[in-house]
Amino acid sequence: MAINKNVESALEAKRQLAKEAKHSRKSERITPIQLIEQNVQEYIVGQDVAIRRILTAIYRSLYFKSIKSNILVIGSSGVGKTETLKQIAKRLNIPYTEEDATKYTQEGYYGKSVEDMLINLIVASQYDLQKAQKGMIIIDEIDKKTGDEKGVSGAKVLKSLLKIIEGTKYKLDDCIFDTSQLIIVFCGAFDGLEKIRDKRLGQGQIGFRQYENKATLQNRFTKQDLVQYGMPEEFVGRIDTIVEMNKLQKEDLVQILKKSRLSIFKRYQRELRNMGISLRYNPKLLELIAGRSLHLDTGARELSNTVNYIFEDIIYNVMANPGSYSECRLFFEIVDDNTRYKLS
Ligand SMILES: Nc1ncnc2c1ncn2[C@@H]1O[C@H](COP(=O)(O)OP(=O)(O)OP(=O)(O)O)[C@@H](O)[C@H]1O
Ligand SMILES: [Mg+2]
Repeated sequence: MAINKNVESALEAKRQLAKEAKHSRKSERITPIQLIEQNVQEYIVGQDVAIRRILTAIYRSLYFKSIKSNILVIGSSGVGKTETLKQIAKRLNIPYTEEDATKYTQEGYYGKSVEDMLINLIVASQYDLQKAQKGMIIIDEIDKKTGDEKGVSGAKVLKSLLKIIEGTKYKLDDCIFDTSQLIIVFCGAFDGLEKIRDKRLGQGQIGFRQYENKATLQNRFTKQDLVQYGMPEEFVGRIDTIVEMNKLQKEDLVQILKKSRLSIFKRYQRELRNMGISLRYNPKLLELIAGRSLHLDTGARELSNTVNYIFEDIIYNVMANPGSYSECRLFFEIVDDNTRYKLS
């Protein structure tokens, strides 16, 4: 009898364990990657290949735990490097911190600075160390740290960063920070890197776009390209994923204004609507705004300057006569002269 009882309780314990194991597997349920991808695409325009590749590298880091992901994102200013990373981090509930590699220059400072990055990440995680250790550190302007620079400002700083890339444990003031699961993303413009690639491929000047959908390893930027550019080999050697972001064309800027959830134009439209004022304009106005904003290498950044300019006088007048208007018509000329509108 007693033996039977023991067997029975042992079986029960086994069932319970199996149930718990199943439960814990379930609690680590993976959000299907395409859901995040589609969501990020509602914000970021013209970077579909890059979004997918960055997201894949981040998922690899999160769920293929034995393979560490150090990512390098290459693209000129204002094309969406930081914004893409932020959007992904938010959706996946990963804490992140944005750091500027050019800050890490002073003699004797660089060792401390790496620790500062970790502290910033702990703060971003609301002091949850476990969460911080699985966070993301975005390090901008890494291309300004080539091996050519003298002293600590160049290669040596990169070498100090290698420690976190390699998953060293850091002793901070009141905790030990294990960096082995951190997601490190380096960003940079790498002006002129295309020329090195074109030369390797034996081709003349071809725009970024030409390579976009050709997934061959050849067409991508390679580690050799980076070394030739001047990045130290021991640094390049630890990058697992090199992602290239497109230059934004005028049509991309139009799409950002029209469709992106980040569109500053749509935000003005929404705010005015909330005040009972509907905005009227010819859709071609968006092309004019895009054209005005298309300065060399500032990407989508200039859009907010142009759009803020357009609405400045309107806001003043709406605020001067609260509740008096229900419609605002924008004329094409408003891109050059922000008094060219009609409130009624
Ligand atoms: N592809 C894009 N789609 C929609 N909005 C974009 C895109 N790229 C940039 N933007 C807008 O421009 C702003 C600046 O972009 P972001 O900070 O990502 O630039 P970046 O590529 O990191 O440039 P930098 O090298 O100067 O840091 C974003 O906050 C966003 O509003
Ligand atoms: Mg940036």
